[in-house]
Amino acid sequence: MGSSKLRIFYFSPTGGGAAVANAVAKDGGELFDVTLPENRIIPPQICSADENLFVFPVYNRGVPEICAQYVRSLKGNGSFADVICIYGGVTKGKCLPQAAKLLSDCGFVPRKGACVPAPHCYCKRQINALTPERLDLIRDFMKGKVHLSPISSEKKCADLSVQRAMKRVTGRCIVDHSLCNGCGKCREVCPSGAADATSTDDALCILCGACVKKCPQGARRIKFYTPFPSLFVNANCKERKDEFFCFSDGGTR
Ligand SMILES: Cc1cc2nc3c(=O)[nH]c(=O)nc-3n(C[C@H](O)[C@H](O)[C@H](O)COP(=O)(O)O)c2cc1C
Repeated sequence: MGSSKLRIFYFSPTGGGAAVANAVAKDGGELFDVTLPENRIIPPQICSADENLFVFPVYNRGVPEICAQYVRSLKGNGSFADVICIYGGVTKGKCLPQAAKLLSDCGFVPRKGACVPAPHCYCKRQINALTPERLDLIRDFMKGKVHLSPISSEKKCADLSVQRAMKRVTGRCIVDHSLCNGCGKCREVCPSGAADATSTDDALCILCGACVKKCPQGARRIKFYTPFPSLFVNANCKERKDEFFCFSDGGTR
């Protein structure tokens, strides 16, 4: 009957969630970087006594489908699950209640959750930096040292027009072939298997921007079909506060 262990699952194409997961792991816990497809193939076995932390980005005001699919491959077996949603400081939408429902549908007991603003992958202004002080606060949250509000008191952080505009980001990843040298670094970081050395499979691309960030030639960019990034991200991406919630009983079994 092994002792309980903390698993820290994170999906982080542009590094915000990875910084949070690595900070938490300083206090113990096994890291599971599930950003790349090959790391999502074999789900770990989870016992009821285990504790789990899921660090997800917020895409389109909620949990990205690619993360939901991974969670559905796990069996929670009644173990505790905490969740940290990393969002770009525009709107967190309903990410936490959505994540809690998803986890509970997969056999986890959702315990506590945090909404953590981080630099937005589409925003030119680098705000909501994950400073050492903020990472320490998140570690305190994991250690149970931070006051948790009930999730029922959670407030939306953006007005309704923004909520609607953020509903769906559409676009495609474009490769400038005059710059691309076929090095394949884009393929190494693509979480959905969409990026090939010189092209992108539109059907698989989740518009995460990992390849854009990684490309040494600056040959990749996302071309948006919606006015979302220019109008809404730059206008509504703001400094936001970290927020900490408990899902039900505040963390006691
Ligand atoms: C497709 C897509 C949709 C996004 N939707 C939202 C959103 O609804 N609200 C928001 O504040 N940020 C949104 N973001 C920004 C990300 O949540 C933010 O960049 C986050 O830091 C990404 O996490 P990572 O750095 O761990 O990959 C979106 C990003 C992408 C790629």
